[in-house]
Amino acid sequence: MTVPILRVRDLRVTYRGERGVVPAVRGVSFELGPGETLGLAGESGCGKSSIAGALLRVLPRGTEVTGEVLLDGEDVLTMKPGRLRAVRWSEMAIVFQGALHSLNPVQRVGSQIAEAIELHQPGADARGRVSELLELVGLPARRAIDYPHQLSGGQRQRVLIALALACNPRVLVADEPTTALDVMVQAQVLDLLQRLQRELGLAMLFITHDLSMLAHVCRRTAVMYAGRIVEEGPSEDVFQRAAHPYAAALAAAFPVIGDPAFRKRPVGLVGDPPDPRELPPGCPFHPRCAVARPDCDSIEVELWPVAADRRAACVHVLGGPR
Ligand SMILES: Nc1ncnc2c1ncn2[C@@H]1O[C@H](COP(=O)(O)OP(=O)(O)OP(=O)(O)O)[C@@H](O)[C@H]1O
Ligand SMILES: [Mg+2]
Repeated sequence: MTVPILRVRDLRVTYRGERGVVPAVRGVSFELGPGETLGLAGESGCGKSSIAGALLRVLPRGTEVTGEVLLDGEDVLTMKPGRLRAVRWSEMAIVFQGALHSLNPVQRVGSQIAEAIELHQPGADARGRVSELLELVGLPARRAIDYPHQLSGGQRQRVLIALALACNPRVLVADEPTTALDVMVQAQVLDLLQRLQRELGLAMLFITHDLSMLAHVCRRTAVMYAGRIVEEGPSEDVFQRAAHPYAAALAAAFPVIGDPAFRKRPVGLVGDPPDPRELPPGCPFHPRCAVARPDCDSIEVELWPVAADRRAACVHVLGGPR
């Protein structure tokens, strides 16, 4: 077995601010091998971006983050600022969610990329690297002189990916990299990420609320609910034979991959996910769960092996009758 490049252990993120205490991530663990892509799925508010922010330590001040984020064995959460600056972007980089408008509107895109390179790798041939990066993400090098408004949404997303890759990271966190784009462009950006992952051997955490994306991109998928992973395993198993009722409902709510008719199956998910400040007792999914048992309002089970490479956190997988 290959040694994981990233090991996340019992990660917890708690926001403290005007909204009170928000336990957004409640004990998440996963591993990412070199060149591997792990999908992270779940409805809005389940804590996906909070995990992404914790991995790179870019969460608002005052946010409590505990656990371990081991990058080649070194804990990002306890790194001194200087070391963190060296690691961020050069070892692990992020494509932020909803960042399409975050490019500086009055600066040419090439110079924005060059600036990132100069900041993190002084002395590098920034100009040459900009051309190389633009071509890597499928844009002609001459687009370097364009301003962001001269680019389409898909092209801007490519620039953001180029920015994230500017310093040759080995781990890329892509937070909803295709969500704001139309369907055709989504497919192109997905293809790009897959190609980069293959060509550069990038380890990638691919975050989306859209399960149908993950089947294409990720060999393994983790499904989150209310700040925890509730099921993790090979994507195909999680989509087609989910063991956790939430993962099953989520999978059923999306078009079936490979189904020529590409129709939606019945949606098995009613209601909204809970507010993390007011989680229901026991399993937080039980109020929406079609197969909840009477004791589900008093126990929240840990992830439990369902198969050799698959885990789920549900009383039903502990061997109880369904
Ligand atoms: N700065 C913050 N202060 C307080 N609460 C926050 C903050 N950022 C996020 N939250 C809350 O933490 C929870 C998790 O949010 P997060 O953004 O991680 O979810 P997500 O899974 O990425 O959702 P989405 O699919 O909408 O991007 C939510 O309840 C959210 O309201
Ligand atoms: Mg998010």
